[in-house]
Amino acid sequence: MAMNEISVGILGIGTYVPDKVLTNKDLEKMVDTSDEWIVERTGIKQRYIADADTATSDLATKAAQRALENAGVTADEIDLIIVATATPDMLFPAVACLVQDNLKAAKAAAFDLAAGCTGFMYSMVTAAQFIKSGLYRKVLVIGAETLSKILNWQDRNTCVLFGDGAGAVVLGETKPGCGIIGVHLGADGAGGKFLSLPAGGSRIPASVESVTENLHFVHMNGTEVFKFATKVMGEAAVAALEDAGLTANDIDCLIPHQANIRIIQSASKRLKVPMDKVIANVDKYGNTSSASIPLALEEALQAGKIKNNDIVVLVGFGAGLTWASCVMKWCKEENTFA
Ligand code: ACO
Repeated sequence: MAMNEISVGILGIGTYVPDKVLTNKDLEKMVDTSDEWIVERTGIKQRYIADADTATSDLATKAAQRALENAGVTADEIDLIIVATATPDMLFPAVACLVQDNLKAAKAAAFDLAAGCTGFMYSMVTAAQFIKSGLYRKVLVIGAETLSKILNWQDRNTCVLFGDGAGAVVLGETKPGCGIIGVHLGADGAGGKFLSLPAGGSRIPASVESVTENLHFVHMNGTEVFKFATKVMGEAAVAALEDAGLTANDIDCLIPHQANIRIIQSASKRLKVPMDKVIANVDKYGNTSSASIPLALEEALQAGKIKNNDIVVLVGFGAGLTWASCVMKWCKEENTFA
């Protein structure tokens, strides 16, 4: 990082999940599965599910309000809102615009960013550039999903994996040398076919056929995504650490995307970071896509697992296929210490 560059850090964090819990036992009554299979293959025990009247912008707004409060920042100080989501309320307007109205963040520009489960990381890195350039001072980054709305609840291959939730951070200037000190973003569009929601866009507009053929639901080749994820998580983290002039030995806390405990364990093994430095809460939330990293980060902060000057590595993967990692030096200057 250049000496005179603005350092960007997390000034506040907030999360929100709906009230309704769906356990593996509940799923046993819906599809041919078992609590034992789900726990053994994924580590997931339960997930939160939004009710019929709740959309992604509702969860996003609540997480954002908590993040603003945690940061001690008012909505009218926000210059930009970026919402990472694969489950927008509708194709347009963007969820970020709906949130901007809910928060009455009158001066904020607003847009959504689509990078699947990697969306939160992509959005953080994007937001940081606006602050580093001097264009904006405070940016709200939100990862929010209601994946339950796009799951085929008769498909055991996918419906057991995901959950709903939202997480938000306020990004702004921090002490020199603190905050985001290394980043890496990547994509491999050739793998896009392994994880998609085929219909409802311009390729296959909504029709009676598209609905009958279940094309408005998540389609996933689990084995291919698993292979990709186990490879890319370690590589992405190492690339971001290199950008920061660090190595995996420097990691104090690893916050991986929460898709499957076996993928998280594999990242821990590849990076040689013991599991006591790795945050895993997939058992409670399932895979909440772009909300998973802020949900895990807040849990780590509340549990006191992040200390002053710790090196914290966030790393994710997702639809696209995409991957990203962000290395942060966590300094007391941020408001996020519990
Ligand atoms: N309950 C019981 N059996 C099941 C279930 C279930 N819920 N789901 C699948 N099975 C069956 C399969 O049908 C298969 O049966 P068969 O051998 O008779 O065909 C058997 O279990 C084994 O299936 P595998 O696919 O080999 O199981 P695997 O150990 O690979 O685990 C899983 C599957 C959990 C989906 C794994 O591949 C995985 O986690 N992949 C990555 C998924 C992921 O991370 N997706 C999201 C990434 S990006 C984002 O976060 C949006």
